[in-house]
Amino acid sequence: MVRHALTAVFAAAALAGSAVAQKCTRNQKCPKDAPCCGLYGDCGVGAFCLGGCDPTMSTTFDSCVPNPVCKSGTYKFEGLNDVQSINDYLGDNSKINWQSQGNPIKYPSGGVALTMAEGTVGTLLASTFYVWYGKICATMSTSQGQGVVTAFIMMSDVKDEIDFEFIGNDINNAQTNWYSQGVTNYQNMEKLKVNPDTVSKTHEYCIDWSEDELSWSVDGNKGRTVKRTDSWNATAGRFDFPQTPSRVMLSLWPAGLPSNGKGTIEWAGGEIDWDSKYMTNGMYAALVTEVTVDCYDPPAGIKAVGSKSYKYTDEMPTNNTVEITNELVVLHSLMDTGDEPGSASSSSSSSASTAPKPTKSVNMVPGGNPGGGARQDSAVAATNTAQPTSGSSPDGLAPGGGSAGGSSGGSGGGSTGGSDGSNNQWDQGNGGTGASTGTGTGNAGSVLEPGLGKVGGSAMAIVFAIFGLLVL
Ligand SMILES: *[C@@H]1O[C@H](CO)[C@@H](O)[C@H](O)[C@H]1NC(C)=O
Ligand SMILES: *[C@@H]1O[C@H](CO)[C@@H](O)[C@H](O)[C@H]1NC(C)=O
Repeated sequence: MVRHALTAVFAAAALAGSAVAQKCTRNQKCPKDAPCCGLYGDCGVGAFCLGGCDPTMSTTFDSCVPNPVCKSGTYKFEGLNDVQSINDYLGDNSKINWQSQGNPIKYPSGGVALTMAEGTVGTLLASTFYVWYGKICATMSTSQGQGVVTAFIMMSDVKDEIDFEFIGNDINNAQTNWYSQGVTNYQNMEKLKVNPDTVSKTHEYCIDWSEDELSWSVDGNKGRTVKRTDSWNATAGRFDFPQTPSRVMLSLWPAGLPSNGKGTIEWAGGEIDWDSKYMTNGMYAALVTEVTVDCYDPPAGIKAVGSKSYKYTDEMPTNNTVEITNELVVLHSLMDTGDEPGSASSSSSSSASTAPKPTKSVNMVPGGNPGGGARQDSAVAATNTAQPTSGSSPDGLAPGGGSAGGSSGGSGGGSTGGSDGSNNQWDQGNGGTGASTGTGTGNAGSVLEPGLGKVGGSAMAIVFAIFGLLVL
């Protein structure tokens, strides 16, 4: 019910609003009033400038905040204290290690359930720190059912990517893959067997990523290794090997939505069944009980003028154009950007003084496909760049439910609502209905109208009230 109500609101907002999110590419960078090119290839402020912001497609390199450095640790998601919604996170990674979109739920016996109710685009957890080489392991069990994809991936802001993907109708295999700077090469995919299956119990999946070698293992057995030296691309003049600081991402997402590309739906095993025996309380779910991160020392030769963040310094985003600096930027509000982070000392009711002055609607929270990754063709397709894209390739993936290019006023990648009570316990009797809200109708998360912008801080409250962006 909540979902239907929200959908109506979105539709109304889309009519009234004009927030067509501008797309960004290397050749067409974001405009000054929405300087940050977010994870899904469109421009905005606020969360667009944090994790996933591509400096090579943003107004300036400083529009995106620098990437906080790797943090070794064991992350158990107990109580979700370490998880904050992308709608609230402003970049202070000293307090929060994980950012969420969608509906992560505390699992009664430990860990976090990534959920996906009908009409939502699932759930994404992304680390607020970046790993620049390291061993990253996730202990998890996947969801099941055609069209449902569970993923554990590493992805950089310039779309280097290392994947474990789990297709819901092939529960005996994990698919491994990698991409370099978002170039979609599906020849790289290789399956690893999982015994007895990915669903009935948790397994430990590890990605071991160094400067020269990348490997994937399941329950301690190394199943696949790729060497950097085998990945030379003469056309591009670089190694097609993941080499830039990357976030850890865990997600559950609806690859089998009818609005996605045909190839994507086929890859995912068919269209999603929203009345499936694999759903519990109206939701699909995957369980993550632990993530461990062992950061490797920065490779010799990296320019280090500090120790707190990784920062891109060149249009060609390869390993040797990233440096380690002491710059850390925390935004004052979601109206702010890396260039204009706002002042932490100004009144909490308004950030208007330093915020960019929007001349049109500005998006503050990127939405769309929690799968992230190279599988996002709406951003690419809408931009007509040299990026290879094909609607029928297995990649051809639109952000969940948001395949219409330029749709405006869409809900976030998993805007969710639901009452507190029903969200806390996944296994609770009636939890399902309360927790299912949100839709995925576009790339734009929350949308700020110019009129609202003038009232400063309170506009945020209005926007969030309208979109019901309450997670956790
Ligand atoms: C080499 O790089 C170019 C430019 O990025 C890309 O179009 C091409 O697909 C790459 N080749 C392979 C085999 O991936
Ligand atoms: C960057 O990659 C090159 C190969 O392209 C390699 O020779 C060099 O050691 C790497 N440098 C760093 C700092 O990772």
